[in-house]
Amino acid sequence: PPGPKPWPIVGNFGGFLVPNFIWRRFGGWGGEDDPKSKTRALISPQVIITEQAKVYGNIYSMWVGSQLVVVLNGYEVVRDALSNRADVFSDRPEIPTVTIMTKRKGIVFAPYGPVWRRQRKFCHTTLRNFGLGKLSLEPCILEGLAVVKSELLRLSEEDTEGSGVDLTPLITNSVSNVISYIALGQRFHHADREFGALLDLMARGLEIIANSAAVLINVFPLLYYLPFGVFREVRQVERDITAFLKQIITRHRETLDPANPRDLIDMYLVEMLAQEAAGETDSSFSEDYLFYIIGDLFIAGTDTTTNTVLWMILYMAVFPDIQERVQAEMDAVVGPDRVPSLTDKGSLPFTEATIMEVQRMTVVVPLAIPHMASETTEFRGYTIPKGTVIIPNLWSVHRDPTVWEQPDDFNPSRFLDDQGNLLRKECFIPFGIGRRVCMGEQLAKMELFLMFTSLLQAFSFSLPEGLAPPPMHGRFGLTLAPCPYTVAVRPRR
Ligand code: HEM
Repeated sequence: PPGPKPWPIVGNFGGFLVPNFIWRRFGGWGGEDDPKSKTRALISPQVIITEQAKVYGNIYSMWVGSQLVVVLNGYEVVRDALSNRADVFSDRPEIPTVTIMTKRKGIVFAPYGPVWRRQRKFCHTTLRNFGLGKLSLEPCILEGLAVVKSELLRLSEEDTEGSGVDLTPLITNSVSNVISYIALGQRFHHADREFGALLDLMARGLEIIANSAAVLINVFPLLYYLPFGVFREVRQVERDITAFLKQIITRHRETLDPANPRDLIDMYLVEMLAQEAAGETDSSFSEDYLFYIIGDLFIAGTDTTTNTVLWMILYMAVFPDIQERVQAEMDAVVGPDRVPSLTDKGSLPFTEATIMEVQRMTVVVPLAIPHMASETTEFRGYTIPKGTVIIPNLWSVHRDPTVWEQPDDFNPSRFLDDQGNLLRKECFIPFGIGRRVCMGEQLAKMELFLMFTSLLQAFSFSLPEGLAPPPMHGRFGLTLAPCPYTVAVRPRR
């Protein structure tokens, strides 16, 4: 496919790296606090990548170092590749930083094939089972939300100067605790030092590999071994996370009761034992693999959901009329006296439409996770060589003017029909599409619904007086996060 001319050695990546390094000196991708946010918006990678499709077409190529990358833009093309040609476009590339961290085990970056399929199926089924019976997740999520609400109440009372509250630590803890409950069988207090340290480590690891000079490891892998700066820090973070998770797995093995699995680790250990007993010789189920799966669940399941909740609250503060409509609908359907539950799903169309519209506007995984062509193939008139990295541009799908009317406007009603019923739109794919579609989609939807409804039932959010909203194009990292912000929190009752 056609594409922009590459720079020597670094390829088109140079076009991102150089402005990134210059701009980082003034606050990073997307900028944190600069009123000249429009300039920053122009260099947000998802925006540049989408803009380039206007020049080169919906399928175009770029070079990252010596690696050919093909970017797919717009709903038709993305669906065609990931759904209709799933057999060719479902593999994952080797990205040096990621391969070093994951050894290509776990699920997210595992090569497409029988091992990935078995591991994914096991985890998917286990996640589904968590929706049921004594391991049901709803009480766990609601318990976490009760803590968030009481903390928010306290913080809003303390905010006497009106500078607003930063919701990030509370929401991060609440979301991480859901994964922790599933994977590790325990919830942690938001002030727990050990858990806080693990979350900080993971966040730092992601920040470094996505948004620092460590990205250069992807072009020059030997940089990983440099004994200074972020390169040394990457290795240290990796060692610390490994030590923490390995210790937890060991504790589980020592206290395992196969008849009463407590969490995903126990279920995985039981599966390992069953396969051993059945004499499976080529089983990929091992403690080593389990370790990477847990890492995947934390990494794929926390940042994404946390940032979506943070975006939802920010949009409510910036669009108070929409917030009022959501609250009016909730007051009418749920009322003030009981906590919203999953059984309310289906009776709150405007609320659900608002959640979807925030997801559409913000697309927290804007470029999905890179795919790879597992063989040379013809696709829509182009030859895509085996090993080409494929970027499904989900940002472009959700701003595609051929499927969304006025795509840049925030308008929840686009997800409603004339009678106010919820419309399911097939071009709404923030969780991806095809065989690599998000494994946690159902869990995430459950969390988003419960968090959004519980928080809006209890509080109203607004921009602190005299403060402009943060730049709405967000900060590009592994996920698209809102730029740091604070909101005024007012208890409704
Ligand atoms: C993959 C979005 C929450 C686990 C993905 C992908 C996207 C995505 C776009 C990549 C699809 C592709 O490669 O084509 C989201 C969003 C979330 C969310 C928007 C929240 C709002 C979660 C949660 C979990 C999770 C809560 C786990 C508990 C995964 C896994 C993969 C994945 C394991 C890799 C699937 C594979 O490679 O087979 N997600 N996700 N995600 N997600 Fe999520």
